[in-house]
Amino acid sequence: MDMKLKMNVIPLFLLILFCFASCGGSNSPVKLKQYMVNGQRGYEANCANCHMSDGSGLGKVIPPLKGADFLDKHLDQVICGIKYGMDGKIIVNGVEYDQPMPGSKFLSDIEIAEIVTFITNTWGNGNGIVTIEQVQGQLKKCNN
Ligand code: HEC
Repeated sequence: MDMKLKMNVIPLFLLILFCFASCGGSNSPVKLKQYMVNGQRGYEANCANCHMSDGSGLGKVIPPLKGADFLDKHLDQVICGIKYGMDGKIIVNGVEYDQPMPGSKFLSDIEIAEIVTFITNTWGNGNGIVTIEQVQGQLKKCNN
C-alpha cells in the first residue's frame, strides 16, 4: 500500500472503530433515538387508541402513562401486562382504575422493548433504554 493511501485509510479505520465503541453501544444516543422512533410507531399502532397519543389516558377508565407513578414503580408488571394483559385494581397517581387491558401477544420482544423505552422516556419521564434482554428476562417471570 503506498504511503498516501495509508494516510487516508488509517483515520477512516479509527473513525469506524470509534463509532463501534460509541455509536452502537447499548445506551448510546443513536440507539436510544432508534428505539424512540420505532417505539413511537409501535405505541401509536397498539396503545394510543386507549392511552391517547399524548399519554393522558381517558378519564377514570384508562390510566395515563404521562407522569404515571405506576409506570415508574412497576415496570416489571407493565412489561408482563403489555404482552399478556392486565387485570385487577391498580392505583395510578392516586386514582383507582379497574378495567382489564388486553394483552398484545403478537408483539415481539424487541417491539415491547422499544414501546416501553418510548413510554418511559417521553412526557417528562426519562430512564434510558429498556433493553430486549430486560424484556426477555421479565417475560419469563410473568404468571400468565
Ligand atoms: C383497550 C385499551 C387499552 C390498550 C389498547 C392498551 N391499554 Fe394499557 N391499560 C388499559 C387499562 C384499562 C389499564 C388499567 C388496567 C387495570 O386496571 O388493571 C391499562 C394499564 C396500563 C399501564 C399501567 C398503568 C399506568 O398508567 O401506568 C401501562 C403502563 C399501560 N397500560 C401501557 C400500555 C401500552 C404500552 C399499550 C400498548 C402496547 C397499552 N397499554 C395498550 C387499557 C389499554
